[in-house]
Amino acid sequence: MPTSTTNSENEAKIIGIIQLKGGAGRSTIATNLSAALSQRATVALIDCDLPQGTSASWGILRDENNHLGNLSVTTALDHQALIKKVQALSRTHDFIIIDGPPRIAEMTRAILVMSNLCLLPLGTSAAEVWALSDLFATITEAKQKNIHIDARVIWNRYRKQTRSAREMIDAVHDELDLPQLQSYLGFRVAYSDVLARGLWVGEWHDPIAKKEINALVTELLTVLGINMVTES
Ligand SMILES: Nc1ncnc2c1ncn2[C@@H]1O[C@H](COP(=O)(O)OP(=O)(O)OP(=O)(O)O)[C@@H](O)[C@H]1O
Ligand SMILES: [Mg+2]
Repeated sequence: MPTSTTNSENEAKIIGIIQLKGGAGRSTIATNLSAALSQRATVALIDCDLPQGTSASWGILRDENNHLGNLSVTTALDHQALIKKVQALSRTHDFIIIDGPPRIAEMTRAILVMSNLCLLPLGTSAAEVWALSDLFATITEAKQKNIHIDARVIWNRYRKQTRSAREMIDAVHDELDLPQLQSYLGFRVAYSDVLARGLWVGEWHDPIAKKEINALVTELLTVLGINMVTES
């Protein structure tokens, strides 16, 4: 544990990223968040979206360029493998980031239950908001069984000034009882450029994208109650 981190329970904080709609931005958020956190803490990124394995491929590229540092990247084929990996990695890492699969199955339920915080990436289009309702039903069902679940929407490809974006935010607020993070990712080519190169936006020439991810890190640390020096 780096001295800059105060994780009093001495086990990893787990952040799961789940969304049923393909292309919502799970891997973009998982990879950028993992690399950003690994600047100051030890991070394990588990890719559960196989055989696609976007985060795992990103990790291989990062390793080839000697950029892994405090980050380790691994995969889990099913929920049992995931649970075992989380238990083992939890003792040796400050954070575990889980890139979830695009379907409701045991794996998604396991991620929901194991995570200290689940992020639900969502684009501001009606189709994406509709696609959230199945996941919302699963979250509600788990909460009714008294399982502690903290799941929050993170807006992706967000266009601040548009009316439709504001309408979607209001619709999610009114119709789904899910908290929304204040941080968001704008629609920026930097996100696809870095994914293809095994980088994160902090290593690219888009200061606004870097600012977005750093703001996300700061907000997540606050939600998780962790004291860690971050870039603003
Ligand atoms: N904010 C953004 N701005 C621009 N491009 C983005 C943004 N977020 C994601 N993308 C691009 O959209 C595509 C899908 O994103 P990503 O792979 O993160 O989604 P996913 O939910 O993991 O999808 P999949 O179902 O394919 O695993 C990628 O090419 C990615 O680079
Ligand atoms: Mg993906």
